[in-house]
Amino acid sequence: MTGSPELRLNDGGSLPQIGFGTWPLDDDQAARAVAEALRVGYRLVDTAARYENEAGVGRGIRASGLSRSEVILTTKIRGADHGYDSALRACEASLERLGTDYLDLYLIHWPLPAKDLYVETWRAFIRLKEEGRVRSIGVSNFQPTHIDRLVRETGVLPAVNQVEIHPDFSQPDLRRWLAAKGVVVESWSPLGRGELLDHSVIRRLAGKHGRAAAQVVLRWHLQLGLVAIPKSQNPERIRQNIDLLGFQLDEDDLAAMATLDGDHRLGGDPDTFYED
Ligand code: A2P
Repeated sequence: MTGSPELRLNDGGSLPQIGFGTWPLDDDQAARAVAEALRVGYRLVDTAARYENEAGVGRGIRASGLSRSEVILTTKIRGADHGYDSALRACEASLERLGTDYLDLYLIHWPLPAKDLYVETWRAFIRLKEEGRVRSIGVSNFQPTHIDRLVRETGVLPAVNQVEIHPDFSQPDLRRWLAAKGVVVESWSPLGRGELLDHSVIRRLAGKHGRAAAQVVLRWHLQLGLVAIPKSQNPERIRQNIDLLGFQLDEDDLAAMATLDGDHRLGGDPDTFYED
């Protein structure tokens, strides 16, 4: 059984709870994997200018045979393009590479507080939404202080914050804060880049439910009310990662999963991470 439940966004849109992640695929790998993902039921595809695979993602979507309106397409602005005018130009360049004339979701990839241009970038995002180039706007790797500042200076709350979340780094405080604000949380590296899948607790739960380890972890994201965007290049695993509806983790399972949280970040710290 495939397909995934949907979450309503604060701007009226919605996202399926399982999407397809494309980092670190190159153009050709992304084209193949995205076409396969759409074939087996994914409808949310996630890329970023920084991944340098937008052209491949666009090819994969066209190869799927689905119409553009059936696919929810996310990309993200890179650090070098922060700023009002440069953000408007960056969006056009992403649309061109993707071969489409609108985005469903556009995210500021990192806040880059040292650059201090994320508010200006956000003003450009607000305009892109008003002009219909982008359906929903959001952020990635933002801390509460960054989001508070966006709201204080522009009055517009992001629809989404995409952050690192997996059982070894479950960010309970940030999740609670975002839930209270009405911001949907997307988990990047939801499988902990695959490193977690051999853990004894996850293997035990996989055995108990007769499911793969990755399915247990993705079911955990679903039950926490998150959108997860696992990446895989392997057709069998691509299919497995969206086949999550026939079982449920019970309270004991969730308590066991909670013991895995080592507050262990795999990627950058949003307060200090810098990229162009
Ligand atoms: P592969 O592309 O060979 O399937 P994350 O999305 O957390 O960054 O994790 C991605 C990593 O997890 C990749 O190395 C991917 O490898 C691996 N992976 C993805 N899905 C599965 C799965 N169902 N079972 C095992 N490994 C997986």
